[in-house]
Amino acid sequence: MNPRTTRLLLVLSAFVAGLLLCFSVVLLVTDRGGAPIIAASSQVGGPFRLTDQNGKAITDADLKGHPFLVFFGFTHCPDVCPTSLFEISEIFDKLGSDADKVNALFITVDPERDTPAALKDYLSSFNPRVIGVGGDADALASVAKAYRVYYKKVPLKDGDYTMDHTAIVYLMDKNGRFVAPFSLKRRPEEAAADLRRYF
Ligand code: NI
Repeated sequence: MNPRTTRLLLVLSAFVAGLLLCFSVVLLVTDRGGAPIIAASSQVGGPFRLTDQNGKAITDADLKGHPFLVFFGFTHCPDVCPTSLFEISEIFDKLGSDADKVNALFITVDPERDTPAALKDYLSSFNPRVIGVGGDADALASVAKAYRVYYKKVPLKDGDYTMDHTAIVYLMDKNGRFVAPFSLKRRPEEAAADLRRYF
């Protein structure tokens, strides 16, 4: 074999070895590396059966086919919840006729006070696309757990109480899978454009 052929063979075998290495890396990524990512997203959200502000049953199946936002709060919330609801309403306004391609769920962490009627009354100040979601304490505890949401009743001096709660807005895709936390801290046009990517 002349030196040139030897060199060519070396280059070729290096190339083939490289290909094999790439291939095995891809296998590793899809077999193992990929799994935790999929598991991580599927660990947020999931099936639920709750009640909307009209007293009708609402389940995860009703939301299939469109992306949706989910956040947890309560109608007596002094600032975070009304601010988020206002910002989400602005995004729906910017979506215009596409607003019906997205849903937004406001799930209460205060079943004692947030009856369907209380939710309905409270949400009348915001975009009608926002769905108020309630249910019994156990059902709400389990959906909060599914979304990794923390909430806690905090007594106030006057005998009243408030609720501490996670204020993350979750973006779920049209198959009900968690995509990412959804930022409201940007112009509503930008947030609306972001949502359109998941139609
Ligand atoms: Ni709140």
